[in-house]
Amino acid sequence: MEAIFLAGGFGTRLKPLTYTRAKPLLPILNKPMILYLIDSLPSEVDRVILAVNYKKEQIEKCFSKYDCGREIIINEEPEPLGTGGAVKFAEKYLGDRFFVLNSDIISSINLQDMIRFHERNKATATISLWPVDNVSEFGVAEVGEDGRITGFVEKPKPEDAPSNLINAGAYLLESEVLDYIETGRLVSMEKEIFPQIISNTGRFYGYKFEGYWIDIGRIKSYLYVNQFLLKEKGLDKIIGEDSNVKGDIVNSILGRNVNVGRNTVIKSSVIFDNVSIDDNVTIENSVIGENCRIKENVYINNAVIGDNETIMDGYEIIDTTIWTQPIPEGYPKKQIGNVIGE
Ligand code: GTP
Repeated sequence: MEAIFLAGGFGTRLKPLTYTRAKPLLPILNKPMILYLIDSLPSEVDRVILAVNYKKEQIEKCFSKYDCGREIIINEEPEPLGTGGAVKFAEKYLGDRFFVLNSDIISSINLQDMIRFHERNKATATISLWPVDNVSEFGVAEVGEDGRITGFVEKPKPEDAPSNLINAGAYLLESEVLDYIETGRLVSMEKEIFPQIISNTGRFYGYKFEGYWIDIGRIKSYLYVNQFLLKEKGLDKIIGEDSNVKGDIVNSILGRNVNVGRNTVIKSSVIFDNVSIDDNVTIENSVIGENCRIKENVYINNAVIGDNETIMDGYEIIDTTIWTQPIPEGYPKKQIGNVIGE
């Protein structure tokens, strides 16, 4: 069976890291996020389709170096087609039943169990559901006793919410769903297709799961997911190959070929590949992009430093983003869409 990963977004909320890389390639515990997700697919999935657009070449390059043990198809949309349009555009690669997955959600969902749930219900579509406290920020599902979804209520007041369950971004669909999607235009699966499946088939189900669900939309959640998974593995740090560390690394991840000087402390942060950090530096709750140079006596807290930046001696960088290079051509000025939580 197939799994399509929606991997074509610009990831504007993660700029400047996404000025220079496709969001699915952001490292999670030093491994591109998309590889992390592919490795957690159930064995039933033998073909993976990546619905791509922005920085497709980088994604191709990543897969030319890794063997995931599954067939990988990189399907480039001529333009972003949205969650429904991207699936329709991959129709020729799809069989009778397939997963549609966001490539920026890390969760404890058991997709094998979701297949069994879908089969038991003879569902046309099953979507994953996750409980939240803050219902008023999301589309909340109306779910019957038997797990059948009858609709969604957008951003309800807590007292009006039909449940506390939101669309968690993993879909298991029968191929008949493709008939509802028009070819060649921007289509939202959530807004345009799901309501039709609910009203026409009545076989639209919600699969609840527990554990964790982290939507890596923003820098804060990107840092959080790395720390969360580090803890899950019982580790305090990960230091990549060819790195040379003289200072203290706490609750942090360092990429390959990272040099850390004496009396330097790195805490709750992610440092990408080929970064050089001099003596007497403190970095906390921050992300440092590839090929950066951080000179002596610098203090960085709650900041993001884009790739290839140099921070000069003695600077204090607090609650800010550093990007001094031209913004890549074609990069949107603001967020285009928001699939989850719409
Ligand atoms: P922001 O700009 O920060 O909102 O990020 P984003 O562009 O990734 O959008 P969002 O987080 O809403 O997207 C959720 C998932 O859908 C991500 O995995 C995106 O890569 C993917 N995605 C969003 N729009 C499209 C699209 O038009 N085509 C494809 N193939 N994937 C998309």
